[in-house]
Amino acid sequence: MRLLQERAAPGNRMTPSTQTVLGLETSCDETAASVVRLDADGTVEVLSSIIASQIAAHAPFGGVVPEIAARAHVESIDGIAAAALAEAGVGFEGLTGVAATAGPGLVGGVMVGLSFGKAVALARGLPLVAVNHLEGHAVSARLAAEVGYPFLLLLVSGGHCQLLAVEGVGACRRLGSTIDDAAGEAFDKIAKTLGLPYPGGPALERLAEQGDPAHFELPRMLLGRKDCDFSFSGLKTAAARIAEGLTTQAERADLAATVQAAIATQLAERSDRAMGLYAAEHADEGLRFVVAGGVAANRAVRARLQAVAEKRGFSFTAPPLAYCTDNAAMIALAGAERLALGMSDPLDAAARPRWPLDEAAASANPTHAPGRKGAKA
Ligand code: KG4
Ligand code: ZN
Repeated sequence: MRLLQERAAPGNRMTPSTQTVLGLETSCDETAASVVRLDADGTVEVLSSIIASQIAAHAPFGGVVPEIAARAHVESIDGIAAAALAEAGVGFEGLTGVAATAGPGLVGGVMVGLSFGKAVALARGLPLVAVNHLEGHAVSARLAAEVGYPFLLLLVSGGHCQLLAVEGVGACRRLGSTIDDAAGEAFDKIAKTLGLPYPGGPALERLAEQGDPAHFELPRMLLGRKDCDFSFSGLKTAAARIAEGLTTQAERADLAATVQAAIATQLAERSDRAMGLYAAEHADEGLRFVVAGGVAANRAVRARLQAVAEKRGFSFTAPPLAYCTDNAAMIALAGAERLALGMSDPLDAAARPRWPLDEAAASANPTHAPGRKGAKA
């Protein structure tokens, strides 16, 4: 239970009403459902958060297979949603709305959760919110901590790597993003060259614990560039070349530690630059830095980012580990915040495989890479 200071985007006004929202997340390889309550005073309560991971189904292929993912979502979505309602002790009649991820992501999966959400909304006469998955990650830290708007967000996952000024509900401005791979994608691909199982990020972190982060030399990408963009493909190529010649487990641990440190360094350097820009515009509003997405689960990454935030005078918030990776509680909260502002979507809202949070920045800079899942950034 947390008290939040709400701040609507310019022009928006919060309606003082309690929202109890069923959230649905099916954009990648987790089928998830959750019930979240957002009180009129801004208190957030996660009443349930159920996540069915498909890791075992995809592991033999070394990555997410879209067709397998979509079928698995179809098989489990109704059971997972029923379990989330049961655990929350809330029936359909106790809901004030339904929020489903409508993109970006693997479109077959997105359609499953979104269609299920539409069916519930239609059958029960509830408002629907078609949630941008990235907006879910953006609010994820607010599930368990007091983080008022505005804040500076580093969103780092398997499909996204971007720095955003989050000014209010649904009002994000992109300060930088990856020009090739996402950070989680780099972790996963390098883990694969080290022979680690899928998903690679957590496995690489475990191997890195035994390694020396200064053992190998890896390129420092985009060093000296004045913007807040990221690049990981050179690092990936260099690491793959080194990995080919390794013979011992100790050397592999050293490479894992070196790679992890290099990714953490780049994330910290770019965040440092973004904090400078953000602070110049938000000096009077309290400086808050939030990291979200699967890579935020990495302890070395968290530690580097926290150090930069402290140096720059920003508060630092990272979601609890369960809310870093994909979950439906963050989708339910994103929906609840919109509903509290009187915002909802029509029942013909489309599933969007691509859906940037800052559409203006994305169309002005189309060369920025979407990341492995194509779709997801
Ligand atoms: O947010 P998420 O669950 O899904 C996307 O929206 O992409 O993030 C998954 C990504 C994967 O690339 C995974 O390897 C990475 O987050 N990840 C980690 C760790 N835990 C998850 N990367 C590094 N260290 C970790 N501990
Ligand atoms: Zn995600």
